[in-house]
Amino acid sequence: MEFDLKTTFVFSGEITSIKENIETFVEEHRKALKEKEASLDILDLKKNILSLKLTSTGSLRPHNMLLHLKNLMVKEFGKKYHLGIREIKIDYYKIVFEIEKKPLKKVVIPFADLKIEDRLVTMSLLKVDDEFLRRNYIDRMIKLVEEKVKNQYYEGKGEYWELIWESRKKESVWRKDPTEEMLKKSWLKQGPTKGKWFYYPQAAAIIRAMEEIAIKEVLEPLNFQEIIESHIVPFDIWLKTGHMRGMPGEFYYVTEPKTRNVEKWEKFVDLVKITKNIPLGELEKNLEVPRSGICYAQCPMIYWSLQGKTISEDSLPILIYEKTAISARYESGGRHGIERVDEFHRIEPVYIGTKKQLLSLREKLIERYKHVFDELLDLEWRMAWVTPWYMQQSGRFEEQNSSRSREKGTIDFEAYMPYRGERDKSEWLEFQNLSIIGEKYVKAFNIKTQKEQLWSGCSGIGLERWAVAFLAQKGLNPEKWPSGFKKYLNKVPEGIRFL
Ligand code: SER
Ligand code: ZN
Repeated sequence: MEFDLKTTFVFSGEITSIKENIETFVEEHRKALKEKEASLDILDLKKNILSLKLTSTGSLRPHNMLLHLKNLMVKEFGKKYHLGIREIKIDYYKIVFEIEKKPLKKVVIPFADLKIEDRLVTMSLLKVDDEFLRRNYIDRMIKLVEEKVKNQYYEGKGEYWELIWESRKKESVWRKDPTEEMLKKSWLKQGPTKGKWFYYPQAAAIIRAMEEIAIKEVLEPLNFQEIIESHIVPFDIWLKTGHMRGMPGEFYYVTEPKTRNVEKWEKFVDLVKITKNIPLGELEKNLEVPRSGICYAQCPMIYWSLQGKTISEDSLPILIYEKTAISARYESGGRHGIERVDEFHRIEPVYIGTKKQLLSLREKLIERYKHVFDELLDLEWRMAWVTPWYMQQSGRFEEQNSSRSREKGTIDFEAYMPYRGERDKSEWLEFQNLSIIGEKYVKAFNIKTQKEQLWSGCSGIGLERWAVAFLAQKGLNPEKWPSGFKKYLNKVPEGIRFL
C-alpha cells in the first residue's frame, strides 16, 4: 500500500519563533520513520500553522500516526511555550492499494473518489476531519472497496446448494395450489395490505396444529423453554447482527409519534373530521424518523437479552424458543400465496453452548424434525446445505464453497410442491432452516461463559410454510390426511358460511 497525506496542524498561537525546534523535532521523527518505509516533511510553517507531508509504503498508516504525532508535539512544545493544537486538517490524502480481483463494474464509496486500474485502486479522500481519523473510517473504506468488488463476483452466481438427504418419493393426493383452493373455500382471505393474510378458523386451526406439533414433538422433548420477546427491534440490535447493512430495504420500519400532546395533534384530527381522509403531510409532521423496525427474525433480540452476560456452565446449552413475535419482510416481486409473504408466523428456537454441545444438538434436532416430517406429516422432503442465512442477511457473500467443514452453516429443509410441476424440474419450497452460527453473534453481543468459547445457532420453523408444504401434498380433505397429523387435527372447524 502507498499512502500520501498532506495535513495542517493549527496551533493555538504563533509558532514561527520556535521554527527551529519544530524542524529538529520533525527531522528526528523522519529518521525514525525511514526504517519503517515512511517519511515526514514540512511543507509550510507560518503564523500558527504547520503543514506536513506524510508518506508511507510500509505497514505504517499515516492516518493512524496523526493523533500520535499531535500528542508528541503537545508534550514537546505545549508546556514550554504555552501552545496547544486546536485542529488537525487533512488537506489531501491519497491511498493506493491492491485488491484481489479486478472490478466487474464501477465501484463508488462515500467520502472518496476511486480510480481503479486492473487491481490497483487509487483512493482520494475528499473531506476528512478529526473524527474521521479517530473512528477508523479510513481502514473501513479500504475494506469496503475490497468487499464491494468481491460481491460483484457473487452477485451473478446462483445460490449455493448441496443435497444432504432426501426422503423417499411419496404419493400426493392432488396437484393444486393450496392457497387458491383455501381462498375458494373461504378458509383464507388476502390481507388488507400486500403480502398479508387473514386466516379464518379453518386455516387458523391448521397453522395452530403445526405450532403445537413443533412444540410437542420437537422442542419440548429436547427441553427447550419458551421466552417472549418484543417484536419491535431497535436499530442498534440490527447494527450488531449485520442486518442493518444487509437488509435495509426489507424491513418494515416503525416510527413513534413526536408527542401525545393533544394540541399538537389538533390540526390533524380536524382535517380527518372535515375531509374523512388522512392528511399524510400533516401526519408526517408529528412523527419521528424511524429508529426501529418490526421483527425480521426472532433471534437478534434473543441475543440482545443475553448481551454482556456471563452464563453459568451448568445452564449450558441454553435452549429457548420464541413463538409470539410476528416477522415482517418487505418482499418485492416474489409474493405468492401464503408461502411467500410480507408477514409470517414462526417459532424460532435458539441454542447457545459449547461447540460440542451444539453439534450434538443439531443431530438431535434433525432426528426430531425427521420424526415430524416423515412420520407425522408424511412429507416428501429433503435437506441441503445452503448459503448461511447470517451471511446473506448481513450482505456478505464469502464462505459459500463446499470445501469448508460442515460444523457451521445453514441447512434448508425443502418440500416438494406438486402443483408447481415435476419433482425434478420444479422449485421445492424451503419450509424450514437450521443453522449453527459459531462465534459471530455471541461475540457481537459479548455473551460469555466461565471457560470455553460459546457458539450459537437457531432454527426457523415457519408455520405458514409447514402448513403449505403439508397441504400441497396432502390436500384439504381431512379424511385424506395422515394419521400422525390427525392426532393433532382431525377435522377443520366449521368456520363462517358466506352468502
Ligand atoms: N434467523 C433465521 C433466519 O432468519 C431463522 O429464522 O432464517
Ligand atoms: Zn435466527
